[in-house]
Amino acid sequence: MQSSDLLKIIEGIPKAELHLHIEGSFEPELMFEIAKRNNIELAFDSIESIKKAYKFNNLQEFLDIYYMGAQVLIHEQDFYDLTWAYLTKVHSQNVVHVEIFFDPQTHTERGIGFGTVINGINKALIRANREYGISHRLIMSYLRHMSEEEAFDTLESSIPFKHLIDGVGLDSSEKGNPPNKFVNVFKASAEHGYKLVAHAGEEGPAEYIWEALDLLNIVRIDHGNRCLDDEALIRRLVDEKIALTLCPLSNVELKVIQNMEEHPVAKMLDKGIVATIHSDDPAYFGGYINENFYETAKALNLDTSQLMQLAINAFEASWLTREEKNRHISEVKKYFESLVLSH
Ligand code: ADE
Ligand code: ZN
Repeated sequence: MQSSDLLKIIEGIPKAELHLHIEGSFEPELMFEIAKRNNIELAFDSIESIKKAYKFNNLQEFLDIYYMGAQVLIHEQDFYDLTWAYLTKVHSQNVVHVEIFFDPQTHTERGIGFGTVINGINKALIRANREYGISHRLIMSYLRHMSEEEAFDTLESSIPFKHLIDGVGLDSSEKGNPPNKFVNVFKASAEHGYKLVAHAGEEGPAEYIWEALDLLNIVRIDHGNRCLDDEALIRRLVDEKIALTLCPLSNVELKVIQNMEEHPVAKMLDKGIVATIHSDDPAYFGGYINENFYETAKALNLDTSQLMQLAINAFEASWLTREEKNRHISEVKKYFESLVLSH
């Protein structure tokens, strides 16, 4: 398939994005604009120098810069602008449903109110639903480099905004911060009605994926690349249809894998794992969901049936109702059928 044909096909697929950190969609241009209006001096003097700094040898090097960038977000309007910019971008990429993360602690630690953060994000999500028809779920992530007690404080702060939050996640520095550190707060989160997900097996071992499933009772795994190290784990994921939200460009940029040709997504599909593709932190890793699909498909020579499976898997793995899932999945199938007819 020609590259231009492949890109066109990917652009046209109705897509769901299930793994996106809103702070990771902070483009340098907007970062500069918001820093300026908030009278904050950035450590970089130009957009070019920011972009040059986006070279990472591991997850921690990325996180250090990512948390620094988020410091310029102060007012509700800042969180609104950030979220609206992301939604406008993915609307242009034919994304019709999003389930996005935000990291409350990155902001509340600096004295920003929980309400300031979530109200800004929520208003943009509501507008995107009205103007673009994009549906959404919102996931608050606990930072795993912080203590479980601090996660409990965050859970408590979230209660007045419970009606806006669908689930909780676990992100930040994985190695040395296993899921077992957060057993109690995940249990309490479930009791409040939150759905549960966690980053596991991104840099950490397959063992962390087992822990996330067995101890935290998560319903979906963020990343999970390392599951292929463990046959019993693969069987569990397949039997229980536990989806992985993979982020190929992130994996290459953070040197979780050495190059895209080594990305495990095709192997995962072959084994029957509910693998899905997303962008993680698109402003930092060189691409949004379409670029993630495109670079993966090109490197691994994915065919249209694999692309269709990836798109369907994301709707299946979403938190939409069965009826909504069916509606989107039938749109995906119709789209791929129309491609066959036009050739
Ligand atoms: N926070 C934002 N992006 C992340 C990633 N890829 N892994 C863990 N925490 C994150
Ligand atoms: Zn992530």
